[in-house]
Amino acid sequence: MLIEKLEKIKEEAEKAIKSATTSEALYQVKVQFFGKQGQLSLLMKELGSLPKEERPQFGQQVNGVRGGLQAQYDESEGRLKKQELNEKLKREVLDLSLPGPAQDQGAIHPIPRVIGEIVDILSRIGFSVRSGPMIENDHYNFTALNIPENHPARDMQDTFYVEGGSVLRTHTSPVQIHTMENEKPPIRVLAPGGVFRCDSDASHSPNFHQIEALLVDKKVSMAELKGTISFFVKEFFGPEIKTRFRPSFFPFTEPSAEVDCSCPLCKGKGCRMCSQTGWIEIGGSGLVHPNVLSQAGIDPDEWQGFAFGFGIERMAIIKYGINDIRLFVENDLRFLRQFEL
Ligand code: DAH
Repeated sequence: MLIEKLEKIKEEAEKAIKSATTSEALYQVKVQFFGKQGQLSLLMKELGSLPKEERPQFGQQVNGVRGGLQAQYDESEGRLKKQELNEKLKREVLDLSLPGPAQDQGAIHPIPRVIGEIVDILSRIGFSVRSGPMIENDHYNFTALNIPENHPARDMQDTFYVEGGSVLRTHTSPVQIHTMENEKPPIRVLAPGGVFRCDSDASHSPNFHQIEALLVDKKVSMAELKGTISFFVKEFFGPEIKTRFRPSFFPFTEPSAEVDCSCPLCKGKGCRMCSQTGWIEIGGSGLVHPNVLSQAGIDPDEWQGFAFGFGIERMAIIKYGINDIRLFVENDLRFLRQFEL
């Protein structure tokens, strides 16, 4: 009786193993027939109904069947798992030639970019960067720069006054004073940063940027000033660009000169950007006025200096052919993307 049951289980189990088409279905066959709670285990529980002397032999037969089924199971399982893995690999195939997800490249805003370029060039000849406060008092923005109260030069700059008598600095020149008060000559510094004037149209912004340069040393003359600026202009705009100095007036320099460069757009022939003159103004310059040196505690008989201040927006407009100063603050991505590196 039991032996027939055993035969039947064996037959059914072998058939089920053969017809299982997935490793999961195969596993269910094992559970049903020869797992811990499977039919073979149940059969073993019936062992007690056999005469004592037949039990060991039947036990061996059951174990033999279990071993045989397990071997067939292992063989099938290996084959099915391999097949399933192959199907999975086929399904999940990676095409390494497909382009990856698009990545936006960042761009550096033209203002900090131009500041970086200027600092790079002038640091090669010994200048390093200093900064000063954007909210200044009257002393640093005007008086110490040889612009006394009631002097008409104060009207040259449309000043924003802050409550309590401070001003938003109208230029980066006050950083000259801070530097000379804090450092001993020789001095070679640059001060880039934001400045403020009450003025706004297509070529004027109330908040714009300048870069100030100050050099204090022994026997400084206009020759050093002109040489430095000419070198800088060629490095920044290109070797074919010429520099021109026009006599001018600034209270904090004597002599003073305005600096023009030949128009990089038309190469000096005359165009809309240079108002047909072939030249474009980039800033002011001069030899530091002796009053400014002595105000800041430097003896003008021993030391001289030159200084210049250029407009950053102006330089960016010229270098990159930008036609409206407001583009710098509108954050239009079509504009900014043109400065991707
Ligand atoms: N601070 C002047 C301005 O904003 C520009 C300037 C002129 C700066 C002459 C200088 C200089 O350092 O020497 O208009």
